[in-house]
Amino acid sequence: AMESGVARYPITNWEAYEQELQERIGIDQKLMTRITNQAKKDPKTVVFAEADHYKILKAAQIVKEQRIANPILLGNKARIAAIIEETNLDLHDCVIIDPYEEDEKREEFAQLLYKKRQRKGLTLFDSRRQMRDRNYFGSMMLETGEADALISGLTRDYSKTILPSLQIIGVEDGINKVAGMYIILNKKEPYFFADTTVNVNPTADELVDIIGLTARTVRFFDTEPRMAVLSYSNFGSVRGDIPDKGAEAVRKAKQRYPDLIIDGEMQANTAMNKNLLREHYPFSELAEKGANTLVFPTLTSGNIAYKLLQEIGGAEAIGPVLMGMRKPVHILQLGSSIREIVNMVSIAVVDAQNYNNKHI
Ligand code: ACO
Repeated sequence: AMESGVARYPITNWEAYEQELQERIGIDQKLMTRITNQAKKDPKTVVFAEADHYKILKAAQIVKEQRIANPILLGNKARIAAIIEETNLDLHDCVIIDPYEEDEKREEFAQLLYKKRQRKGLTLFDSRRQMRDRNYFGSMMLETGEADALISGLTRDYSKTILPSLQIIGVEDGINKVAGMYIILNKKEPYFFADTTVNVNPTADELVDIIGLTARTVRFFDTEPRMAVLSYSNFGSVRGDIPDKGAEAVRKAKQRYPDLIIDGEMQANTAMNKNLLREHYPFSELAEKGANTLVFPTLTSGNIAYKLLQEIGGAEAIGPVLMGMRKPVHILQLGSSIREIVNMVSIAVVDAQNYNNKHI
């Protein structure tokens, strides 16, 4: 598997590769370039929970070389050394930690986890056992300040990877639920989609939270959000659970965030097409410019929409950007490419830089 890993990712000159990709498919990379440059201004320490994997190690080398981040690699040292040697990676000044070898640290972390969760049914025995899991160990490194951000999720499914972080890091003050956002890069302006990763069937009030988190995150990327809450109906044209939920969320969001440009419920083409809006719904706040930020009524619709754009829409989807965690945790899509991992590290670093001035 390692040999094919080398053959499949013969990328040695990262910048040339980026440029070639951009020219080939015409995707506007300005936003991502801006994020990467911002990350380089103040690189942070990023712990990779799944470092005994070629793609993670290659991404770690790239972010180290480009001074985007200082990686800490979690994994079996012998295995990591074997991959480094076989694939000629240069990671000589990265810290490598094998949680199995760190008896003292593991015990310290197990005690901390036990303290947090002893009234949630966790025994000390199970806490010690869980600390052998690198997602628990990595989350605890972030929690105790030994790292500034955590990247995981390449090899396990999203829900299993996020759970240790939900238990250890948890949500930031004033936030009920975390949610995930994708940046959709294409030939035109960037679009932002949420929630594409966490909440299966959010209530209207949860959608309001998602709207607030998403608006803040889009602004982090120096873009003013123009938000549409999506449905299969336009402004009450059909009644039903999904349309009603969307309309209620919009009403409440307008009250809670009076400065925000937001409207709905509406269909996706209505949101994206300002001519259609002007002709049929000139009263809409979005009639001037159309939407750049889409809030989906369910995880099903959001997840399917971005994956289709990625596979057949010729767009590049960057994310998921996890929003509302008390500290920067970002979970990769299963099987992410090296390029996607590098992008996520840049986002995690910028997230860590912004860590002290979050507000909605
Ligand atoms: N925000 C914050 N905390 C949460 C959230 C949330 N959205 N959901 C659960 N939690 C907390 C709970 O409060 C609980 O905390 P506690 O133990 O301290 O009381 C803890 O997390 C565990 O809660 P459970 O109820 O055991 O977990 P649940 O079954 O709700 O699972 C999960 C949470 C894993 C996020 C679930 O909602 C899920 O599987 N979502 C879908 C994930 C997914 O598969 N996404 C699609 C693929 S992702 C992609 O395409 C990249």
